[in-house]
Amino acid sequence: AKIKEVEFVKSSNRPKDCPKDDRPEFAMLGRSNVGKSSLINSLVRKKEVALTSKKPGKTQLINHFLVNKSWYIVDLPGYGFANAPEAARMDWSSFTKGYFLNRGTLVSVLLLVDASVPPQKIDLDCANWLGRNNIPLTFVFTKCDKTKGGKGKRPDDNIRSFLQLVREYHKQQPPWIMSSSVTGFGRNELLLHMSQLRNY
Ligand code: GTP
Ligand code: MG
Repeated sequence: AKIKEVEFVKSSNRPKDCPKDDRPEFAMLGRSNVGKSSLINSLVRKKEVALTSKKPGKTQLINHFLVNKSWYIVDLPGYGFANAPEAARMDWSSFTKGYFLNRGTLVSVLLLVDASVPPQKIDLDCANWLGRNNIPLTFVFTKCDKTKGGKGKRPDDNIRSFLQLVREYHKQQPPWIMSSSVTGFGRNELLLHMSQLRNY
């Protein structure tokens, strides 16, 4: 599960511009500011492979990062941020059709959910849409350093209620992992999980 090298490959503004080889990939999805780009940096142990910001709407394109020359991590723009520049803002519905439904090499969506706030409708809608469409999904609860159960294995109330609320839309409960890009909590667990999925 070790990451030896990572290289930025390209930014695409349309799904059909994404790399066309057969390497497996994981897509980071979630609300603006939830910590997608930070998680990528934490996984690959580089400060600014993926650009991050305190202000939501930083990531505006589909960014492919090649890990160990063998699989991709994809950084996506966040959803739920109304003030993104109009020209660059990705339309969620056409994006989901174009990317999630047709990307044959997608091993799993990593849906990032902020563990420090109660369940948000937009995240539940997103999780339910993915579930209804049978798109492989892993929940990654971010910013656990800001929660009481930050270092432990036991999920906090926010996480428990989220998992409870998405239950009916998923045949099986998707796997879930608690994480913090600040402390590195959950990093190894997530890397192991991703390597197991790749070797299926
Ligand atoms: P967009 O590109 O706008 O969609 O946002 P993003 O999901 O890529 O978020 P990004 O990684 O840029 O992080 C947003 C803010 O949250 C930054 O200020 C990060 O430092 C902070 N942040 C990210 N992960 C964590 C975490 O695990 N813990 C804490 N406390 N803050 C975090
Ligand atoms: Mg980002």
